[in-house]
Formats: sequence, structure tokens, C-alpha cells
Amino acid sequence: MTEKLFIFDTTLRDGEQSPGASMTREEKLRIARQLERLRVDVIEAGFAASSNGDFEAVKSIADAIKDSTVCSLARANDRDIARAAEALKGANSSRIHTFIATSELHMEKKLRMSRDQVYEQARLSVRFARNLCGDVEFSPEDGYRSDPDFLCRVLEAVIAEGATTINIPDTVGYAIPELYGSFIKNLRERIPNADKAIWSVHCHNDLGMAVANSLAGVMIGGARQVECTINGLGERAGNCSLEEVVMALRTRRDYFGLDVSVDASQIVPASRLVAQTTGFVVQPNKAVVGANAFAHASGIHQDGVLKARDTYEIMRAEDVGWTTNRIVLGKLSGRNAFKQRLQELGVELESEAEINAAFARFKDLADRKSEIFDEDIIALVSDESVTVEQEHYRLLSLSQRSETGERPHAQVTFAAGGQELKAESQGNGPVDASLKAIESRLSSGAEMLLYSVNAITSGSTESQGEVTVRLQLGGRVVNGVGADPDIVVASAKAYLSALNKLQSKAERVAAQG
Ligand code: KIV
Ligand code: ZN
Repeated sequence: MTEKLFIFDTTLRDGEQSPGASMTREEKLRIARQLERLRVDVIEAGFAASSNGDFEAVKSIADAIKDSTVCSLARANDRDIARAAEALKGANSSRIHTFIATSELHMEKKLRMSRDQVYEQARLSVRFARNLCGDVEFSPEDGYRSDPDFLCRVLEAVIAEGATTINIPDTVGYAIPELYGSFIKNLRERIPNADKAIWSVHCHNDLGMAVANSLAGVMIGGARQVECTINGLGERAGNCSLEEVVMALRTRRDYFGLDVSVDASQIVPASRLVAQTTGFVVQPNKAVVGANAFAHASGIHQDGVLKARDTYEIMRAEDVGWTTNRIVLGKLSGRNAFKQRLQELGVELESEAEINAAFARFKDLADRKSEIFDEDIIALVSDESVTVEQEHYRLLSLSQRSETGERPHAQVTFAAGGQELKAESQGNGPVDASLKAIESRLSSGAEMLLYSVNAITSGSTESQGEVTVRLQLGGRVVNGVGADPDIVVASAKAYLSALNKLQSKAERVAAQG
């Protein structure tokens, strides 16, 4: 029988730590449902003790997800662990993931704790967690840069206290595949009770080697769990990318010889959902999920693929969920067809009022755009969840005038906490004029870090434009996303959506702080 490799997805926790990637409870729940369809083994739903918002998100996911284990991160202290256990109460299968830093640098400079203090805290925390949950993962943060002797002492103790998974983070993305693999192998050989736990890899991508390091941890180190995120989302250069690891394991099963239970046909839908929700666009040449990943432009390649597909293709696009854009609904589609398509896409709007509001938007879109694709529907309900959950500002109407040789001018009407505000401004272009108009009334003072426009469905100017705006204010970074066939309108929506996120107070504790 072949051995199984567990896939632990941390898009909603480590991925969300990426500046600007914060998600609402609804958005997280939608992604969690897609992760369940993808059949990942573990969903790390968040860090319950970091904020009330995170607690509620972990709780909603724990209550809703049936097939995957739902996990919450917790620092190695009783309060965090109890909070994680509380949030996970409703789960079919739950895990507490507790961590404390073990490298000299982190212990001395960040924690200001001695080795003995860290050892004791790790041990007692795992003991406490095991009394609340049968499945406990322990991570020595910055593990790869820790002294192996000290690490052996800590890990042996936490396994003796009942840790069921031992995860070795390369927190800063410093590892090299062979060295990381040997590091884990060495720990497993030296720790007498190592076989009582499943070993796991958690690699950051600062040197672009997160996937290679993770696979070396599996092959050389004997790890049987990989921690990863959709699209490699995560702080700085991101985390190990789920789609790359999974497809490497499947495509080169001859070499790895391990089973993963992921349904690969759900990879592209998961990638799109995460990109649309966070506004972190996938680069076109990204392996597996990039728009060009299966596009053959050169004549020689096209000719080869037409004659025999495997001349230039090692995976099939359809196996990872690429389908040609499917027209799913149109102007004449009724409310029932719309509702059914939402269900098929795994979107659950909570009340009839929400469905009605989303349907009204759909009709409005179908009046302006003849073909409606799945991506359009996801963008439409993403707008909906923002407006229902945390709307303070909402675009009501926009008109703009631009002409060669004239300075563009925009008039914008928007709701602000129930009040209707009108604003106008000139700008360098119609988008600039529209955002300046909004800013002239709100004076938010937010600094714009990013503005980007993408076509939601490729191949035609009839596509909706999807705009991402990243704003920074007082140390907070948020992304706003807006979609509309008119990119000026999409831009104003994205700007207001980012301002809505800045409005919501959700203070959180950094996981690595
Ligand atoms: O990178 C890291 O060290 C982490 C831990 C909290 C597991 O994300
Ligand atoms: Zn991490």
C-alpha cells in the first residue's frame, strides 16, 4: 500500500497575513468551502485569539466544514489555546496548532526568554492543548535556524506530552532543499519518540525555493504533511504553493510514490477564488494556475501538441480545472437558475434578501454584458458580501467626461453610512478624476500602494474589468476589489471597498510577534 501525504492548507491563516490580504468572515467561509471541495486534509482557518473577527471566522468554518480537519493557530499560552479550542468546538474534526520560537535570535531578541523557559512553555502548552483536543500540532517557530540539540530536547518533550504533528517551519525562507531535508532527517533519527508523530514541512518562499524545500523535506526528511497556500499566498514572497506541490507529487508519482487526496480539478477554481477575493493577481507564467501555464505560442510547440499532446505537455489543463470560459447565464436567466448556479459554485448567501440583492446586480450586469461567466458571478457576490457585511461606503452613480486635449472630469455619488454624498473633480485620467472626487469629500488620507486592472475573463474587451486598489493608513494595509464592465466604475467600487475595510476596526495580534 502506498503511503499518504497530508495536505495542510494555511491560505486563511498564513496566507492572510500577507499585507492587504485580510478577508471578511464570509469570504473566508467561501474559501474554506472551496478547500473542502478540493479535499485538503487540514484547513488552518485562522488564529482564533488574535481578534474577535478571527475567532468568529474560525468558529463559522469549524461549524460548516464536514470533511476536512479544521485547525486554529495559537501561541504557546493557555489563553490562546483555550480560545482556539472554544472556536473549534463545533468541528467534526479539529486540530490546535501551537507554536513558540526556538532560534537563539528569536528567543533572545523577540521573546526575551531563556532556553529553559521556552522548553517549559512548549511542554506545558502542548499538555494543556492535549487536554482540550486529541489532535495537536506543535511548531518551533524559526525552527530551521534553531540549534538542533535544543530542538531535539524540545521536540522530544512535546511528543511525550502528546503532540501528534511536529512541524518544522523555515519561517524566513532561508533553507536550501538538500540541507532542509537533511535537517529534518537528522531530527527524526535523533529523537527517540519521533515515530509517535507525523512530521510536517512549512516553507516560506523568500529565495524562491519553498516548493523545492518542502519536497526535499518529504523525500529526504521523511515528512508526511506539507503546509501550503493557494497561489503561494503569504507574507513577503509567500508560502509554498499548494498547486505546485500537489501537481509535482501527482505528475512525478513515479518518483515520490505518495498519495494525496486532493481533487486536482478544483485547483483552478480555488486559485481564481483566492485571487478574486484578496486582489492578489496570479502572474501569467505561474506554474499550474497562471493564464499562460498551458498556452503554447511557438509554432513548433503548437505543431507538436496537435500531433501528440505529451510532446510538450506534462499535465493536462482540464485535470487541474481549466475549462474554456463557460457561458453560464444570460439576460433571460431567472432567479432560480441564478440561485442554482450559486449553489453549484458553492456560494451560500445567508438570507433571501441577500439572494435578491445579488440577483438584482446580476440582472443589471446582464443588461450590460451579454454573456455571464462563473467568474462574473463570483465577482458579483464578492461585492455583495462586502456590502452586506461591512458596507459603510457604497457607490451609487458615476459619470465622467474625457476628450482628447481636455482634462477629464468626474462626478460621483456615493452613500456614506446612510448619507448620500456628491463629489466632483478633475484628474489626469477618468479613473484619477473619480478617485480624487471621492477623496475630496472623505479626506481619508490613505496612501495608494497599488492600482491594477485585469479582465475577469480573458480574450475579449467585453469582459468585466476587475480593479484592485491597495491602500495604507496608520500602519494598516488593505486591498479593495471592484468589478464592472466599465473600468472607471470598477475603480471607484474598488476604492470604496478598500475604504470600507479601513473603516472596520479589526485589530489583530501578529502571529509572529
Ligand atoms: O512561518 C512560521 O513560522 C509560521 C508558524 C506560526 C508555524 O507560520
Ligand atoms: Zn509561516
